[in-house]
Amino acid sequence: MAGSAFPLCKTSFLFCLSGYLNVTGLDFSKEQLSVASSRQHLRAKACYKNIEWVEGNALELPFPGSYFDAITIGYGLRNVVDKPKAMREMYRVVKPGCRICVLDFNKSAQPLTTSFQEWMIDNIVVPVATGYGLGKDYEYLRSSINEFLTGKELEKLALESGFSNGKHYEISGGLMGILVATR
Ligand SMILES: C[S@@+](CC[C@H](N)C(=O)[O-])C[C@H]1O[C@@H](n2cnc3c(N)ncnc32)[C@H](O)[C@@H]1O
Repeated sequence: MAGSAFPLCKTSFLFCLSGYLNVTGLDFSKEQLSVASSRQHLRAKACYKNIEWVEGNALELPFPGSYFDAITIGYGLRNVVDKPKAMREMYRVVKPGCRICVLDFNKSAQPLTTSFQEWMIDNIVVPVATGYGLGKDYEYLRSSINEFLTGKELEKLALESGFSNGKHYEISGGLMGILVATR
């Protein structure tokens, strides 16, 4: 399960219970959950029906241990204050042998990719967002990517959090990245 498979997602976390028919989405923002829920109702496919939205903190997930078959988080971990704790919580609630998938902007080790990413944010992302009255919401992107972890650091964090393996894949020409880790 990857974030892109759930375009309706406006929450930080999606958890999957025994197949994709039971999915739980979590965020600590009521507003985000309400957008997610309204988008869900616009979708006709059956797989969008069984999604439950939960208001909760990624640092203290309101679920028992070894509960979910898969977890995906999209553009969320970068925004969580205590990233190691959020990773440990995902480790706790995913079943042994199952995977988590962390999609986010990639903090590249390549200066050229970083320059291009910064150019895109300054010249496309923020101006377009400004056109929608959301410029302020996106101005933090550059600094938050800069303060985020590189792919190698995310792999190391996965192991330190207890996962048996962690592999980071660069996508979209290195602008984005996905960490896949198995408990
Ligand atoms: C950039 S938004 C991404 C939202 C959505 N995944 C998307 O792609 O549109 C980051 C989200 O992380 C949520 N968030 C940050 N820290 C959190 C925490 N500790 N627990 C739950 N949600 C958190 C924020 O409320 C916000 O909705």
